[in-house]
Amino acid sequence: MTMRSSFRSLVGLAFFTYCGALYASSIVDDIEQNVHLGPATCATSQCHGKSAPVAGRNVHLDEYTFWIDQDYHSVAYRTLQNDESKAIATKLGLESARTADICLDCHADNVPLEKRGPKFKISDGVGCEACHGGSEKWIAIHTEKSTTHSDNVAAGLIETDKGEVRAQVCLSCHLGTKDKFATHRIMAAGHPKLSFEMNLFTTNQPAHYSVDQDYIDRKGFIPGFNLWMSGQFESAKQILSVASARMFAGSGVFPDIAFYDCDSCHHSVDNLRWTRKRADGLDPGSFRMHMPNLVVLDSIMQALGKVELASTVDAKRKDALVAAQRSEVAFKRAAESLENELDRASDELNRQYTDAEIRAVRRALLEASAQDKASDFAEAEQVIYSFETLCLTLDEMDKCLPVLDQFYDSVKQYNQYKPRQFSKVAKSVVGQF
Ligand code: HEC
Ligand code: HEC
Ligand code: HEC
Ligand code: HEC
Repeated sequence: MTMRSSFRSLVGLAFFTYCGALYASSIVDDIEQNVHLGPATCATSQCHGKSAPVAGRNVHLDEYTFWIDQDYHSVAYRTLQNDESKAIATKLGLESARTADICLDCHADNVPLEKRGPKFKISDGVGCEACHGGSEKWIAIHTEKSTTHSDNVAAGLIETDKGEVRAQVCLSCHLGTKDKFATHRIMAAGHPKLSFEMNLFTTNQPAHYSVDQDYIDRKGFIPGFNLWMSGQFESAKQILSVASARMFAGSGVFPDIAFYDCDSCHHSVDNLRWTRKRADGLDPGSFRMHMPNLVVLDSIMQALGKVELASTVDAKRKDALVAAQRSEVAFKRAAESLENELDRASDELNRQYTDAEIRAVRRALLEASAQDKASDFAEAEQVIYSFETLCLTLDEMDKCLPVLDQFYDSVKQYNQYKPRQFSKVAKSVVGQF
């Protein structure tokens, strides 16, 4: 059964519980709490090493084979051996990308030595336990019939089935944390720019599980729309908290400019783009902080009738934009206040939505873009990812594909990105949705 059909069959059930409060410690602490036994431990043919999904069993059982063959994460360490990584390492003055913690922290399961079991190999890259948590305490029980999902979770299995937890797991590498981050120094040495949208990235990983009735019986059901929304909220909050911890933590006169819109510095000066409307209260020539999820969250709140909430969040967003070029103290204060408001908003929006409401949100995203509100590159990217995700959730890809092609075309290269072209595409298609 697909996610989509499960949504139909389960409309009306109270299924999603938000448990962010349980995660006061960081997700990386939780992942690293117990010993990591290594993917080889999961790989035997009786376990997750079958060559294809096995019918009639609750999980596919080919997860290891699938990870090796298709999942980007199994090559994450190998990437550190390629020429691109060698060039980055040389520019950064590293002896080798394969041994540098600043690379291994995201391209492998770089847990402390005392947390590595006998079959653990750093060269396995981003293995099962980098997302599912150290298996030391659940490896034995998780195959027993009498064990429930919550038993496994109590033994340290990470609740990747819950939207906000999954988002925190993925974002720990796809955005960074206070302890690991793709700084502007790393970017300028040649590292690709990072971007993330949880549902789309889960699809592209690609997913090694099916949300069928058995899955729902064991883990409950969270509609795609709600997963997407938690991804958006978590991303917005994580950027603020990582920026609060790191933006001004360097030793130079400048903050870490990787937190700002890349394109605001890297576009050609012949391509003038400042307009008062687009600037959100910033003067011409200002640093513009990256907060790409806020434009998406604004569209969600507008479309769902939370107009007052939207305007409070928007005022705080503008405060944070301005504060991000004033001082560390001003920024931390504004970031905290915005983060708290986002917490409140995500609680308030936590309910089930109809297809009509989801369509209204999709339309609001296009309207915001048509009005040139999604003007920096990363914002446009979030709109496009979100549009695609909502089309998938609504099972309307046929209708969306031609539009998506045009959208992706407009963001092909960030240093040649033209905000007006993006908004023109949005304007020309909004009537169809
Ligand atoms: C904060 C986490 C993080 C850090 C630190 C990091 N990377 Fe990455 N890296 C990623 C992610 C995530 C991707 C995939 C980006 C995408 O495609 O969305 C990636 C992609 C890459 C790619 C491109 C891979 C491809 O298939 O095209 C290279 C090369 C690379 N990283 C090398 C390095 C090197 C060398 C270092 C150390 C100097 C490093 N990375 C540090 C997270 C990180
Ligand atoms: C990049 C993160 C990531 C990696 C790496 C990863 N998984 Fe997963 N896995 C997930 C997510 C997300 C889900 C879906 C949410 C859930 O049910 O927890 C999932 C679900 C599962 C499920 C549950 C399916 C079900 O029906 O309950 C199994 C089993 C599983 N993974 C095994 C593995 C194994 C074995 C590996 C290593 C070979 C692995 N995973 C690597 C993220 C990951
Ligand atoms: C421990 C760090 C880490 C975690 C946790 C992690 N990733 Fe990744 N991810 C990477 C790195 C590094 C790459 C780049 C792999 C490469 O090509 O070398 C990557 C690549 C990807 C790609 C391919 C990107 C592309 O170029 O198209 C997808 C999709 C992806 N990850 C999804 C996820 C999802 C979904 C989660 C959470 C369930 C997740 N990742 C968690 C580190 C991580
Ligand atoms: C505040 C302005 C500013 C922002 C924002 C900014 N950069 Fe830069 N970037 C610079 C400067 C200055 C240099 C050094 C240029 C030089 O060496 O000629 C640079 C250099 C680079 C280089 C190396 C260029 C070269 O010729 O070697 C890359 C790649 C790069 N930045 C990527 C990024 C990415 C990706 C982002 C967003 C995550 C970003 N930058 C954000 C100002 C900025």
